[in-house]
Amino acid sequence: MKQEEYRFSFKVYDSISELDTADADILNAAMDATKTAYAPYSNFQVGAAALLQNGKMVRGTNQENASYPVGICAERVLLSTASSLYPNEPIATMAVTYNNQNGKSNHPICPCGMCRQSLAEHESRTGQPIRIILGGREGKVHVIERASMLLPFSFSSEDMNLDLRQA
Ligand code: THU
Repeated sequence: MKQEEYRFSFKVYDSISELDTADADILNAAMDATKTAYAPYSNFQVGAAALLQNGKMVRGTNQENASYPVGICAERVLLSTASSLYPNEPIATMAVTYNNQNGKSNHPICPCGMCRQSLAEHESRTGQPIRIILGGREGKVHVIERASMLLPFSFSSEDMNLDLRQA
């Protein structure tokens, strides 16, 4: 038997003002996007914005439903939008933030498990890592260099002996 280890490192900034302008712009775009969230059940509006490798910016927000499981997170709305408009275009950097009508927005939130699986597949289909910026309206900001680092031991097309990367 041998013990193995999974290491994960990320950057912590004290506030958005410590980010470089390009990253701050993406996080601000995500904050602006929260205005178009549809979250009448949770009152928790999530906004995501991403800069694609082709220079285009796309956004996504959470879209809830009276039948709760039908709701979809901001991250997967963004991934679907990006893939529909620009198929196989890598995402360079994605930011996620939120407005919380029940409390504060003063710490980073992290994509849920289902979104992590979707992010990992987007990375593998485009062959490029997605940098993730996570922050609230105020407080610390986390930057993770590769979204799939959030989902170790994930199931992927390779487990089915498929390689779906486009030439
Ligand atoms: N939500 C997101 O959109 N992204 C996350 O990273 C966490 C949670 C949404 C789902 C639901 O509409 C609301 O936030 C509360 O869970």
